[in-house]
Amino acid sequence: MANANQELWEKGDFTQIAAFMRPAGQAFVESLGLVPPLRVLDLGCGDGTTALPLAQMGAEVVGIDISRPLVKAARARAEAAGLTSISFEEGDATNLEGVGDGSFDFVLSMFGAMFAPKPLDVAREMVRVVRKGGQIVMANWIPNDPESFVSQVLKVSAAYTPPPPEGFVSPMLWGVESNIRERFAQAGVPTDRIQVKKDVFVFGSAEATPAAFIDIFKDFYGPTMNAFAAASKAGKADEMYGKLRALAEEQNLAEDGTLRMSATYARVTVEV
Ligand SMILES: C[S@@+](CC[C@H](N)C(=O)[O-])C[C@H]1O[C@@H](n2cnc3c(N)ncnc32)[C@H](O)[C@@H]1O
Repeated sequence: MANANQELWEKGDFTQIAAFMRPAGQAFVESLGLVPPLRVLDLGCGDGTTALPLAQMGAEVVGIDISRPLVKAARARAEAAGLTSISFEEGDATNLEGVGDGSFDFVLSMFGAMFAPKPLDVAREMVRVVRKGGQIVMANWIPNDPESFVSQVLKVSAAYTPPPPEGFVSPMLWGVESNIRERFAQAGVPTDRIQVKKDVFVFGSAEATPAAFIDIFKDFYGPTMNAFAAASKAGKADEMYGKLRALAEEQNLAEDGTLRMSATYARVTVEV
């Protein structure tokens, strides 16, 4: 049976959002400066926004994700691209059962592992599966960041969602430097091997408007869908929709009716 974490990410259709992330995902991979041959784990890989470019540049890639439909979508995209050095599996970042110690040169998680519960387990698992001398890079949204469209969408969504169960740890804490350092320190990484810096991710589309982008969040993005369901029950769906539409119009950088939405994030590099 699916747990709440899996249920959330199997809801809707994240591929609809991912379609706005391809060029920035490719640029993110290029910015890593990786030189094959190397074995890479893409954790919380979604439908392969970073996994496919990694394989295209010559890495041997394993993508792991908790969402079964996204694993299926990733496999289909890799097959359509004719990639053979890539595979995708269903798995949970909190417990990478079956993945050997030190079996990867590099672990990448772009807005993925941050959404798994039990962050200390996630940090420990990432450290465990990278070989000594290898690297982990995470991209994590920053809580309440006014410069980040995604943080603002999640903040508005959270305001309409019922309070989480006791003991729930917000995924957004993966965007706070002190939490990041503490989590990797508990996984045994000396603090001088953990680097955190702020960077910018850009969602883009030559066809979609900011309003259409919000509709996609409303109809296909699990956390926003749940928030809309709760807001509807409270008779506040229109209010929430209005806030998100206003936010998207305000934060859109494109001036020609298309979409260019910038979102700051914490880029975490860990030398294992
Ligand atoms: C915001 S999406 C990002 C997907 C992809 N990295 C990208 O940038 O397009 C978050 C991803 O994390 C996955 N995820 C959430 N919890 C997870 C867990 N416990 N273990 C593995 N993947 C998880 C979701 O299924 C989803 O694909």
